[in-house]
Amino acid sequence: MESNAHPIPFDLQKADIKGQLPKHIAIIMDGNGRWASEHSLTRSAGHKRGVEAVRSAVTGAAEIGIAYLTLYAFSSENWARPVEEVNDLMGLLRLYLSREIKTLDEKNVKLKVIGRRTGLANDILAMIAKAEERTVNNTGLTLIIALNYGARQEIIDCTKKIVKQVAESSLHPDEIDEKVFENNLETAGIPDPDLLIRTSGEVRLSNFLLWQLAYTEFCFLDLYWPDFTKDTLLNAIHDYLGRSRRYGARP
Ligand code: IPE
Ligand code: IPE
Ligand code: MG
Repeated sequence: MESNAHPIPFDLQKADIKGQLPKHIAIIMDGNGRWASEHSLTRSAGHKRGVEAVRSAVTGAAEIGIAYLTLYAFSSENWARPVEEVNDLMGLLRLYLSREIKTLDEKNVKLKVIGRRTGLANDILAMIAKAEERTVNNTGLTLIIALNYGARQEIIDCTKKIVKQVAESSLHPDEIDEKVFENNLETAGIPDPDLLIRTSGEVRLSNFLLWQLAYTEFCFLDLYWPDFTKDTLLNAIHDYLGRSRRYGARP
């Protein structure tokens, strides 16, 4: 797999580029296991290196001036992995939440977690609540961690909320439109991603943000997540800047 071979291709400080930067970048962080086996390491070691790549991505996005970064950390389908691996991933999450939150707060990062809360351990739920509360007034990068997240589940939960409002007569069925739907998703208030990046060479969404990605630009990269750096992010943004977003209209 290739690493970050290309030099940084553009000047971020240029005003015209600043205005066109993606506001929201979403990333499917994939390939920790394959990275590990390529380096004759355990999957657990691969996930550990993956956390380092998370640091690079978060710092990089904040430095570049991205407003929202969503990271797919654990899908609702990842429970199907061996229990040892699930425990490893949850352990790393505990470490990240306990060790990183001070730095994130100092960097003015606001943390938000999306995904079903049921199924997560109580101590993790407490850490999430604490981290979200501590950073709630921060005004820099909003870091959204998708944990125990599945887009189909999110759409079902959203539908249930809307049906409840209709049953309670606070909403009329004719009032249901895209805005109502969006306001009842977990990403309410967050603009749709402009750019989706998936590492590892796989070309699929794996149940990630199905509603929100309707008009997102996709960038599938042939490198494993632990090799992701700020330069990888810059190159993906450069690729994005060359796209013509038409939304069904004519350019
Ligand atoms: C991504 O790496 C981490 C999670 C999905 C939690 P993988 O563990 O999926 O690595 P591969 O895809 O098996 O290489
Ligand atoms: C997607 O990766 C989920 C995360 C990155 C958290 P997977 O490795 O679970 O996806 P599939 O199983 O290859 O589709
Ligand atoms: Mg994978």
